[in-house]
Amino acid sequence: MLFNHYQDNRSAIAVKIPRMGFAVAFCVLALAAPILTLDNGLMRTPPMGWLAWERYRCDIDCQNDPKNCISEGLFRDMADRLSEDGWRELGYSYINIDDCWSDMNRDGNGRLQADAKRFPSGIPHLARYIHNRGLKLGIYGDMGTHTCGGYPGTTLDKITTDAQTFADWEIDMLKLDGCYSNVTEQEQGYPAMSKALNATGRPIAYSCSWPAYQGGLPPQVNYTLLGEICNLWRNYGDIQDSWSSVLNIADWFFKNQDILQPAAGPGRWNDPDMLVIGDFGLSMDQSRSQMALWAIMAAPLFMSNDLRTISSEARTILQNKVAITINQDPMGVQGRRLLVESSGIEVFWRPLSDKTSALVFFSRRTDMPYRYQTSLGKLHYATGTYQIYDVFAQREMPALKDSTSFLVSINPTGVVMWYISAPADEDQDNAHAGGKLRGPAFHRSANHILL
Ligand code: GLA
Repeated sequence: MLFNHYQDNRSAIAVKIPRMGFAVAFCVLALAAPILTLDNGLMRTPPMGWLAWERYRCDIDCQNDPKNCISEGLFRDMADRLSEDGWRELGYSYINIDDCWSDMNRDGNGRLQADAKRFPSGIPHLARYIHNRGLKLGIYGDMGTHTCGGYPGTTLDKITTDAQTFADWEIDMLKLDGCYSNVTEQEQGYPAMSKALNATGRPIAYSCSWPAYQGGLPPQVNYTLLGEICNLWRNYGDIQDSWSSVLNIADWFFKNQDILQPAAGPGRWNDPDMLVIGDFGLSMDQSRSQMALWAIMAAPLFMSNDLRTISSEARTILQNKVAITINQDPMGVQGRRLLVESSGIEVFWRPLSDKTSALVFFSRRTDMPYRYQTSLGKLHYATGTYQIYDVFAQREMPALKDSTSFLVSINPTGVVMWYISAPADEDQDNAHAGGKLRGPAFHRSANHILL
């Protein structure tokens, strides 16, 4: 059933964006290697929500830090904010507990239990609180003897019990970390948990940290298998609240895009880790860069910040409707880096449904706004006139011909992000272009315009 959906979806790519050479190349690649998805029907678009780890870590000091410690109050506060401040309507629907939620011991029946001091009402009660607000609850476990923070892990013999406990508690998503286990245990444990979650009959989305523990790349990582058993997976190291960390992660993902890009699709996503927008480490330009690059990557959008005190600037970036639309595109094709210029400018592209696409112009420079000159033709767009919407300036730009050279001004460590569509009446005229890259006219110089 899901497999058929998936096939339909992939065929649609070829039909919907016939005029773009790169897109056609993607389709051929993707069709050549069909991949089954986890059979739970979840996360047809990248999940969105809030996750405790990056901002709140293993703060269990509720006595001295009651507002920020890992406790039911923190998750209730964030659920209130998600449901009352416009986040839920935009798609941010998961509230995810990370490490350090549990008691140091299992209960008398060998089941995990929450720390009773910090979660006095219990997880099922918290789940109801969150569900009553139209949100979903995620929890954290670890394939191994201990979680990374030293709490009880899920050894192979405990997989069925823990899956059933989470289902009984009405949990909606599980992140399964991989500390304190070896290669063989992980090889058995990650697929076994997928099966065990399915067997509970409750749809529980499954986030696997497995590839991050295998170095993130084949031959250790089998992305075909991951697509069959997990809805998302952490490929790489933990994000920190700094620009260097965001950049390091983005660089790794785009450097390895030939491997990672085909692994993603509806129901199965690469996860470059949380959004740190709204914390302390990123400037507003860098925040827009993280939002733009995560949208291009079709990445899960899990914020890890304080929604009670977030600045209006950071909120505006995280609540940007067009950036979210790009991230959530139903076709679910992960984007790619098209160009790395010696000037320090990079260009990223993602094909989207209904003949639309997204472009990101990104500057690694640290001096001053850089005026980058190019044309849509140079970026492999076929003949035609395109409608351009500047995502963060939130304005419609003048229509742009593929051959028209333009200048775009990109701030240091910042981005310009465009949402691009071809006017409907151009479709017929250009239907014959059939995805071919443009011919010699492509190089003709034209007057450039400053956008
Ligand atoms: C690992 C994970 C993090 C977080 C911590 C919790 O480092 O990669 O995302 O879950 O463990 O201890």
